Amino acid sequence: MAANYLDEIREELHKVTTEKDHPFRLFTLATVGLDQVARLRTVVLREVSGNLKLTFYTDKRSKKITHIKENKKVSLLLYHPTKLLQLKIEGTANCRDDDATKEKYWGTLDSYAKKQYTTSRSPGSKLTDPRDITYLNQEHHFCLVEITPHKMEYLKLSRPHHIRVRFSKVGTEWENEYLVP
Ligand SMILES: Cc1cc2nc3c(=O)[nH]c(=O)nc-3n(C[C@H](O)[C@H](O)[C@H](O)COP(=O)(O)O)c2cc1C
Repeated sequence: MAANYLDEIREELHKVTTEKDHPFRLFTLATVGLDQVARLRTVVLREVSGNLKLTFYTDKRSKKITHIKENKKVSLLLYHPTKLLQLKIEGTANCRDDDATKEKYWGTLDSYAKKQYTTSRSPGSKLTDPRDITYLNQEHHFCLVEITPHKMEYLKLSRPHHIRVRFSKVGTEWENEYLVP
């Protein structure tokens, strides 16, 4: 039954929060802003909620946040090399930088992780030498991005046939259909 593959997706995504080396921990995030050019980057999956809302951390001055503010629609790509399992997710991204959220998550970061959100200049600014980087003392630019999926595509390469299933969110339910791989 195609619905079983949804259980597998859930299981693998939730494992990320307990297994540090799980391959889904790093995923590729694609955004498209007003420039209409897809921009890709690797981010760390930090949290997976019961209804599959996915969270990562970032600097609110980064280009991905500019893109998300221009266009909330994002795509994610996750790959599990030993299971030959690819997961594509489409969803809506929301940047959360309210004080309560920041306070809750900021406190869980170690000092090295915190430092990454305190560069004096914005991520992506030109630098003559990597050693010239300077940091802010008090202020930080940490924020969370939450992605609510509305489409997911499961692809497993296997014998005698590959399995490809599309899941589409209709109301609160996930509808599924097999696709030609
Ligand atoms: C292993 C790895 C993990 C990363 N994790 C994050 C992350 O969790 N959040 C983040 O904002 N950037 C992360 N980055 C950096 C991004 O890939 C990207 O270079 C940076 O966020 C700037 O992207 P942007 O200019 O498109 O916003 C990571 C990079 C690598 C190589």
